Amino acid sequence: MNACIRAVTRAAIFEDWRVFGVYRGWEGLIMGDIKEFNSASVSNTIQRGGTILKTARSEEFRTPEGRAKAYKNIQKFGLDALVIIGGNGSLAGAQVFASEYDIPVIGLPGTIDNDLYGTDSTIGYDTALNTIMECVDKIRDTANSHDRIFFVEVMGRDAGFLTQNSAIAAGAEAAIIPEDQTDIDQLATFIGRGIRKSKNSSIVLVSEKDGGAMHYAERVRQEYPQYNVKVSILGHLQRGGSPTAYDRILASRLGVASIEALKEGQRNVMVGIKNDQIVYVPISRAIKMDKPIDKELINVLGILSI
Ligand code: F6P
Repeated sequence: MNACIRAVTRAAIFEDWRVFGVYRGWEGLIMGDIKEFNSASVSNTIQRGGTILKTARSEEFRTPEGRAKAYKNIQKFGLDALVIIGGNGSLAGAQVFASEYDIPVIGLPGTIDNDLYGTDSTIGYDTALNTIMECVDKIRDTANSHDRIFFVEVMGRDAGFLTQNSAIAAGAEAAIIPEDQTDIDQLATFIGRGIRKSKNSSIVLVSEKDGGAMHYAERVRQEYPQYNVKVSILGHLQRGGSPTAYDRILASRLGVASIEALKEGQRNVMVGIKNDQIVYVPISRAIKMDKPIDKELINVLGILSI
Protein backbone atom coordinates (compact mmCIF):
# COMPACT_ATOMS: atom_id res chain seq x y z
CA MET A 1 0.00 0.00 0.00
CA ASN A 2 2.80 2.43 0.91
CA ALA A 3 4.67 1.72 -2.32
CA CYS A 4 1.48 2.66 -4.15
CA ILE A 5 0.86 5.85 -2.14
CA ARG A 6 4.46 6.80 -2.89
CA ALA A 7 4.02 6.16 -6.62
CA VAL A 8 0.76 8.12 -6.89
CA THR A 9 2.28 11.02 -4.95
CA ARG A 10 5.47 11.23 -6.94
CA ALA A 11 3.86 10.63 -10.34
CA ALA A 12 1.42 13.47 -9.64
CA ILE A 13 4.20 15.82 -8.51
CA PHE A 14 6.19 14.83 -11.62
CA GLU A 15 3.29 16.28 -13.63
CA ASP A 16 3.40 19.46 -11.50
CA TRP A 17 0.08 18.55 -9.89
CA ARG A 18 -0.61 19.10 -6.22
CA VAL A 19 -1.41 15.96 -4.29
CA PHE A 20 -3.21 15.47 -0.98
CA GLY A 21 -3.21 12.41 1.27
CA VAL A 22 -6.60 11.53 2.73
CA TYR A 23 -6.23 9.73 6.05
CA ARG A 24 -8.38 6.70 6.98
CA GLY A 25 -10.02 6.43 3.56
CA TRP A 26 -13.62 7.53 3.09
CA GLU A 27 -13.87 8.28 6.81
CA GLY A 28 -11.07 10.84 6.50
CA LEU A 29 -12.71 12.43 3.48
CA ILE A 30 -15.86 12.95 5.56
CA MET A 31 -13.90 14.36 8.52
CA GLY A 32 -11.59 16.52 6.37
CA ASP A 33 -8.54 14.60 7.58
CA ILE A 34 -6.56 15.65 4.53
CA LYS A 35 -2.97 16.86 4.20
CA GLU A 36 -0.93 18.12 1.28
CA PHE A 37 1.89 15.74 0.39
CA ASN A 38 5.25 16.51 -1.13
CA SER A 39 7.88 14.15 -2.42
CA ALA A 40 9.46 13.82 1.02
CA SER A 41 6.10 12.84 2.57
CA VAL A 42 6.56 9.41 1.04
CA SER A 43 10.31 9.02 1.57
CA ASN A 44 11.45 5.83 3.26
CA THR A 45 8.07 4.13 2.85
CA ILE A 46 8.43 1.66 -0.03
CA GLN A 47 9.66 -1.09 2.28
CA ARG A 48 7.06 -0.57 5.02
CA GLY A 49 3.96 -2.71 5.61
CA GLY A 50 0.56 -1.30 6.59
CA THR A 51 -0.37 2.13 5.29
CA ILE A 52 1.03 5.51 6.28
CA LEU A 53 -2.41 6.95 5.45
CA LYS A 54 -4.09 4.52 7.87
CA THR A 55 -7.38 2.90 6.99
CA ALA A 56 -10.87 2.55 8.39
CA ARG A 57 -14.26 1.09 7.60
CA SER A 58 -16.73 3.98 7.27
CA GLU A 59 -20.37 3.41 8.15
CA GLU A 60 -21.16 7.08 7.54
CA PHE A 61 -19.97 6.92 3.93
CA ARG A 62 -22.71 4.35 3.29
CA THR A 63 -25.26 7.14 3.82
CA PRO A 64 -26.07 9.93 1.31
CA GLU A 65 -25.46 12.46 4.12
CA GLY A 66 -21.97 11.07 4.72
CA ARG A 67 -21.13 11.22 1.03
CA ALA A 68 -22.42 14.81 0.86
CA LYS A 69 -20.01 15.76 3.67
CA ALA A 70 -17.20 14.04 1.78
CA TYR A 71 -18.01 16.04 -1.36
CA LYS A 72 -17.99 19.28 0.65
CA ASN A 73 -14.42 18.54 1.69
CA ILE A 74 -13.47 17.78 -1.91
CA GLN A 75 -14.66 21.29 -2.79
CA LYS A 76 -13.05 22.83 0.30
CA PHE A 77 -9.62 21.34 -0.54
CA GLY A 78 -10.07 21.97 -4.28
CA LEU A 79 -9.59 18.33 -5.26
CA ASP A 80 -10.08 17.60 -8.98
CA ALA A 81 -9.84 13.82 -8.90
CA LEU A 82 -9.61 10.90 -6.49
CA VAL A 83 -7.29 7.89 -6.56
CA ILE A 84 -8.67 5.15 -4.33
CA ILE A 85 -6.46 2.23 -3.28
CA GLY A 86 -8.37 -0.68 -1.79
CA GLY A 87 -10.40 -3.83 -2.11
CA ASN A 88 -14.02 -4.51 -2.83
CA GLY A 89 -15.41 -2.24 -0.09
CA SER A 90 -13.31 0.80 -1.00
CA LEU A 91 -14.00 0.42 -4.70
CA ALA A 92 -17.73 -0.14 -4.14
CA GLY A 93 -17.68 3.20 -2.28
CA ALA A 94 -15.87 4.76 -5.24
CA GLN A 95 -18.50 3.43 -7.62
CA VAL A 96 -21.40 4.93 -5.64
CA PHE A 97 -19.61 8.23 -5.10
CA ALA A 98 -18.74 8.60 -8.79
CA SER A 99 -22.35 7.97 -9.75
CA GLU A 100 -23.55 10.77 -7.45
CA TYR A 101 -20.88 13.44 -7.86
CA ASP A 102 -19.03 14.81 -10.85
CA ILE A 103 -15.45 13.88 -10.01
CA PRO A 104 -13.11 11.51 -11.86
CA VAL A 105 -12.30 8.50 -9.72
CA ILE A 106 -9.50 6.02 -10.43
CA GLY A 107 -9.36 2.78 -8.43
CA LEU A 108 -6.23 0.79 -7.65
CA PRO A 109 -6.55 -2.84 -6.52
CA GLY A 110 -5.20 -3.15 -2.97
CA THR A 111 -6.11 -6.34 -1.15
CA ILE A 112 -4.36 -9.53 -0.08
CA ASP A 113 -7.41 -11.50 -1.27
CA ASN A 114 -6.70 -11.02 -5.02
CA ASP A 115 -10.44 -11.12 -5.62
CA LEU A 116 -10.88 -8.16 -7.95
CA TYR A 117 -11.92 -8.97 -11.49
CA GLY A 118 -9.83 -7.66 -14.40
CA THR A 119 -6.40 -7.77 -12.80
CA ASP A 120 -4.09 -10.77 -12.52
CA SER A 121 -2.79 -9.60 -9.17
CA THR A 122 -3.73 -7.14 -6.45
CA ILE A 123 -1.31 -5.13 -4.32
CA GLY A 124 -0.42 -7.11 -1.18
CA TYR A 125 -1.39 -10.51 -2.50
CA ASP A 126 2.13 -11.67 -3.34
CA THR A 127 3.49 -10.52 0.02
CA ALA A 128 0.75 -12.41 1.89
CA LEU A 129 1.35 -15.47 -0.28
CA ASN A 130 5.04 -15.48 0.60
CA THR A 131 4.30 -14.98 4.29
CA ILE A 132 1.91 -17.93 4.32
CA MET A 133 4.44 -20.10 2.49
CA GLU A 134 7.13 -19.28 5.06
CA CYS A 135 4.76 -20.04 7.94
CA VAL A 136 3.75 -23.38 6.45
CA ASP A 137 7.41 -24.27 5.90
CA LYS A 138 7.87 -23.79 9.65
CA ILE A 139 4.72 -25.67 10.61
CA ARG A 140 5.91 -28.56 8.46
CA ASP A 141 8.79 -29.20 10.88
CA THR A 142 6.34 -30.10 13.64
CA ALA A 143 3.92 -31.90 11.33
CA ASN A 144 6.76 -34.04 10.07
CA SER A 145 8.50 -34.70 13.37
CA HIS A 146 5.29 -35.58 15.20
CA ASP A 147 3.41 -37.35 12.39
CA ARG A 148 0.45 -34.98 12.53
CA ILE A 149 -2.21 -33.62 10.20
CA PHE A 150 -2.22 -29.83 10.33
CA PHE A 151 -5.17 -27.76 9.20
CA VAL A 152 -3.77 -24.29 8.54
CA GLU A 153 -6.32 -21.50 8.15
CA VAL A 154 -5.61 -18.85 5.54
CA MET A 155 -7.29 -15.47 4.95
CA GLY A 156 -9.04 -14.47 1.74
CA ARG A 157 -12.59 -13.66 2.79
CA ASP A 158 -14.71 -15.36 0.06
CA ALA A 159 -11.81 -16.11 -2.27
CA GLY A 160 -9.41 -19.06 -2.30
CA PHE A 161 -6.45 -17.58 -4.24
CA LEU A 162 -4.20 -17.31 -1.17
CA THR A 163 -5.13 -20.80 -0.01
CA GLN A 164 -4.74 -22.55 -3.36
CA ASN A 165 -1.49 -20.91 -4.40
CA SER A 166 0.21 -21.04 -1.01
CA ALA A 167 -0.71 -24.75 -0.88
CA ILE A 168 1.15 -25.27 -4.15
CA ALA A 169 4.09 -23.10 -3.03
CA ALA A 170 4.43 -24.82 0.34
CA GLY A 171 3.91 -28.34 -1.02
CA ALA A 172 0.78 -28.92 1.05
CA GLU A 173 -1.25 -32.09 0.58
CA ALA A 174 -4.56 -30.31 -0.03
CA ALA A 175 -6.34 -26.97 -0.18
CA ILE A 176 -9.96 -26.47 0.82
CA ILE A 177 -11.29 -23.38 -0.93
CA PRO A 178 -14.72 -21.72 -1.24
CA GLU A 179 -14.67 -21.88 -5.05
CA ASP A 180 -14.52 -25.66 -4.97
CA GLN A 181 -17.70 -26.15 -2.93
CA THR A 182 -19.35 -28.71 -5.13
CA ASP A 183 -21.38 -31.68 -3.96
CA ILE A 184 -18.12 -33.51 -3.50
CA ASP A 185 -16.91 -33.28 0.08
CA GLN A 186 -13.34 -31.92 -0.13
CA LEU A 187 -12.34 -33.46 3.19
CA ALA A 188 -13.67 -36.90 2.27
CA THR A 189 -11.84 -36.66 -1.06
CA PHE A 190 -8.60 -35.87 0.74
CA ILE A 191 -9.01 -38.69 3.26
CA GLY A 192 -10.19 -41.01 0.49
CA ARG A 193 -6.97 -40.43 -1.46
CA GLY A 194 -5.23 -42.05 1.49
CA ILE A 195 -3.56 -39.20 3.36
CA ARG A 196 -0.90 -41.39 4.85
CA LYS A 197 -0.21 -43.89 2.13
CA SER A 198 3.11 -42.41 1.24
CA LYS A 199 3.60 -39.85 4.00
CA ASN A 200 3.59 -39.72 7.76
CA SER A 201 2.29 -36.18 8.02
CA SER A 202 -0.05 -33.93 6.08
CA ILE A 203 -0.69 -30.24 5.75
CA VAL A 204 -4.07 -29.03 4.55
CA LEU A 205 -4.61 -25.33 3.87
CA VAL A 206 -8.16 -24.18 4.54
CA SER A 207 -9.81 -20.91 3.54
CA GLU A 208 -11.20 -18.95 6.48
CA LYS A 209 -14.80 -19.15 5.23
CA ASP A 210 -17.49 -21.40 6.76
CA GLY A 211 -15.79 -22.40 9.99
CA GLY A 212 -12.34 -22.66 8.45
CA ALA A 213 -9.68 -24.98 9.86
CA MET A 214 -11.48 -25.65 13.18
CA HIS A 215 -14.45 -27.04 11.33
CA TYR A 216 -12.40 -29.55 9.36
CA ALA A 217 -10.17 -30.51 12.29
CA GLU A 218 -13.27 -31.22 14.37
CA ARG A 219 -14.69 -33.38 11.62
CA VAL A 220 -11.52 -35.45 11.38
CA ARG A 221 -11.47 -35.89 15.16
CA GLN A 222 -15.04 -37.20 15.02
CA GLU A 223 -14.92 -39.21 11.81
CA TYR A 224 -11.30 -40.43 11.76
CA PRO A 225 -10.14 -40.53 15.41
CA GLN A 226 -7.01 -42.49 14.50
CA TYR A 227 -5.33 -39.28 13.26
CA ASN A 228 -3.41 -36.77 15.39
CA VAL A 229 -4.87 -33.42 14.30
CA LYS A 230 -3.70 -29.85 14.96
CA VAL A 231 -4.96 -26.43 13.88
CA SER A 232 -3.00 -23.28 13.10
CA ILE A 233 -4.84 -20.03 12.32
CA LEU A 234 -2.38 -17.65 10.71
CA GLY A 235 -4.57 -14.57 11.20
CA HIS A 236 -3.35 -11.02 10.78
CA LEU A 237 0.31 -11.84 10.47
CA GLN A 238 -0.67 -12.49 6.84
CA ARG A 239 -1.45 -8.79 6.40
CA GLY A 240 1.78 -7.31 7.73
CA GLY A 241 5.46 -7.12 6.98
CA SER A 242 7.72 -5.68 4.37
CA PRO A 243 6.35 -6.14 0.83
CA THR A 244 7.96 -8.46 -1.72
CA ALA A 245 9.78 -7.04 -4.74
CA TYR A 246 6.87 -8.17 -6.92
CA ASP A 247 4.37 -6.17 -4.85
CA ARG A 248 6.57 -3.08 -4.71
CA ILE A 249 6.98 -3.10 -8.48
CA LEU A 250 3.28 -3.79 -9.08
CA ALA A 251 2.27 -1.00 -6.68
CA SER A 252 4.73 1.41 -8.30
CA ARG A 253 3.53 0.62 -11.83
CA LEU A 254 -0.14 0.87 -10.92
CA GLY A 255 0.39 4.09 -8.99
CA VAL A 256 2.12 5.76 -11.94
CA ALA A 257 -0.55 4.37 -14.28
CA SER A 258 -3.31 5.95 -12.19
CA ILE A 259 -1.89 9.40 -12.94
CA GLU A 260 -1.50 8.48 -16.63
CA ALA A 261 -5.16 7.42 -16.59
CA LEU A 262 -6.22 10.79 -15.19
CA LYS A 263 -4.10 12.58 -17.80
CA GLU A 264 -5.89 10.57 -20.50
CA GLY A 265 -9.25 11.65 -19.09
CA GLN A 266 -10.24 8.22 -17.78
CA ARG A 267 -12.96 8.12 -15.11
CA ASN A 268 -14.42 5.40 -12.94
CA VAL A 269 -11.93 2.74 -13.95
CA MET A 270 -9.72 0.50 -11.91
CA VAL A 271 -6.15 0.23 -13.17
CA GLY A 272 -5.05 -3.40 -13.21
CA ILE A 273 -2.42 -5.67 -14.70
CA LYS A 274 -3.12 -8.40 -17.28
CA ASN A 275 -0.34 -10.45 -18.86
CA ASP A 276 2.10 -7.86 -17.52
CA GLN A 277 0.32 -5.01 -19.33
CA ILE A 278 -1.50 -2.14 -17.66
CA VAL A 279 -5.25 -2.31 -18.28
CA TYR A 280 -8.31 -0.24 -17.36
CA VAL A 281 -11.38 -2.03 -16.06
CA PRO A 282 -14.66 -0.26 -15.26
CA ILE A 283 -14.90 -0.23 -11.45
CA SER A 284 -18.40 -1.70 -11.72
CA ARG A 285 -16.96 -4.81 -13.39
CA ALA A 286 -13.94 -5.08 -11.06
CA ILE A 287 -16.15 -5.33 -7.99
CA LYS A 288 -19.14 -7.23 -9.35
CA MET A 289 -17.74 -9.85 -11.71
CA ASP A 290 -16.55 -13.13 -10.25
CA LYS A 291 -12.87 -13.84 -10.68
CA PRO A 292 -12.61 -17.61 -11.05
CA ILE A 293 -9.75 -19.75 -9.81
CA ASP A 294 -7.99 -21.45 -12.68
CA LYS A 295 -8.92 -25.17 -12.56
CA GLU A 296 -5.38 -25.96 -13.67
CA LEU A 297 -4.14 -24.83 -10.23
CA ILE A 298 -6.48 -27.29 -8.53
CA ASN A 299 -5.22 -29.99 -10.87
CA VAL A 300 -1.55 -29.17 -10.19
CA LEU A 301 -1.99 -29.50 -6.45
CA GLY A 302 -3.89 -32.76 -6.88
CA ILE A 303 -1.14 -34.25 -9.03
CA LEU A 304 1.75 -33.08 -6.85
CA SER A 305 0.30 -34.16 -3.53
CA ILE A 306 0.25 -37.92 -4.18
O1 F6P B 1 -10.10 -8.41 2.75
C1 F6P B 1 -8.86 -8.52 3.33
C2 F6P B 1 -8.90 -9.32 4.60
O2 F6P B 1 -7.60 -9.45 5.12
C3 F6P B 1 -9.56 -10.69 4.46
O3 F6P B 1 -8.68 -11.65 3.93
C4 F6P B 1 -9.97 -10.95 5.88
O4 F6P B 1 -11.10 -11.79 5.91
C5 F6P B 1 -10.35 -9.58 6.38
O5 F6P B 1 -9.69 -8.64 5.56
C6 F6P B 1 -9.97 -9.32 7.84
O6 F6P B 1 -10.47 -8.08 8.18
P1 F6P B 1 -10.31 -7.48 9.65
O7 F6P B 1 -8.88 -7.10 9.84
O8 F6P B 1 -11.22 -6.30 9.67
O9 F6P B 1 -10.69 -8.58 10.60
